[in-house]
Amino acid sequence: MAPNMVSRRIGVVGYGCLGQSLVSNLLTQGPELGLELVFVWNRDPGRMAGHVPPALELPSLAALEERHPDLVVEVAHPKIIQDWGPQILRHANLLVGSPSALADQATEQQLLEASRRWEHAVFVARGALWGCEDIMRLDAGGGLQSLRVTMATHPDAFRLEGPLAAAQAAGPRTVLYEGPVRGLCPFAPRNSNTMAAAALAAPSLGFDGVTGVLVADLSLDDRHVVDVELRGPPGPTGRRFAVHTRRENPAEPGAVTGSATIAAFWRSLRGCSQLPSRPGIHLC
Ligand SMILES: NC(=O)c1ccc[n+]([C@@H]2O[C@H](COP(=O)([O-])OP(=O)(O)OC[C@H]3O[C@@H](n4cnc5c(N)ncnc54)[C@H](O)[C@@H]3O)[C@@H](O)[C@H]2O)c1
Repeated sequence: MAPNMVSRRIGVVGYGCLGQSLVSNLLTQGPELGLELVFVWNRDPGRMAGHVPPALELPSLAALEERHPDLVVEVAHPKIIQDWGPQILRHANLLVGSPSALADQATEQQLLEASRRWEHAVFVARGALWGCEDIMRLDAGGGLQSLRVTMATHPDAFRLEGPLAAAQAAGPRTVLYEGPVRGLCPFAPRNSNTMAAAALAAPSLGFDGVTGVLVADLSLDDRHVVDVELRGPPGPTGRRFAVHTRRENPAEPGAVTGSATIAAFWRSLRGCSQLPSRPGIHLC
């Protein structure tokens, strides 16, 4: 372990695509990085059998305190953040992998209150959001007027609920939703996380001011495409600052998470494990 590194005890909640990758990295690279895996919890414990050392399996989230984690990483579902986020913050910093949970104002408020009360940080993984720091800086400087995040992929990669679940792709490329990110998150909780991260990166616009667009595209069966378009206010000449990035991320057919995003999560985990327990919500 590098001399300037602090050793940390890490718990992982969720053992799907992201959870398996993070657990594997923690078991193989963790010791040299000062990161000790102290538990893994999954809704279906059978999935961990033969992969996670039995001593590391956590039977119930109610028992996480006994493992004394410094950081708990959520890579399961936004519902876990809503149901368990404040309780986790009582004992540890929290890395949120499903920030669409924060579109619910009560959840955001409860996390902030618990964070302040127990002096633990709420870290939010930037996931598939490219240019996160640039957006934050522009927003903080008052230079952001509009932000639009479009997520396009094959319909098999969507896990939609409510009215969106019934929405049919009408052709090769169909816009399923276009509007405030807050309105999309409850119905696409697992496909709106990049947009939710953008809403957190740009608090002047937030979940109500950032536009999210969800597109079903039959040609995108092996990748997720995220377009981020932002504009500043008109300058003295009437012209505006504008940026458009396009991120094409290879993904297994039907997967919620693309391969580059898995690597981004590992970087977020490593990065935030070295940060202090600062109350509040911080993208990492
Ligand atoms: N921030 C981002 O940009 C970004 C990118 C990709 C994925 N994510 C999110 O990270 C999370 C994990 O992604 P993944 O690719 O590993 O998904 P996955 O489907 O491969 O695995 C999810 C895991 O969580 C469990 N799970 C699902 N619903 C649950 C519930 N209601 N309660 C408890 N456990 C539940 C599943 O059993 C599974 O073990 C998802 O919420 C996903 O939307 C965020």
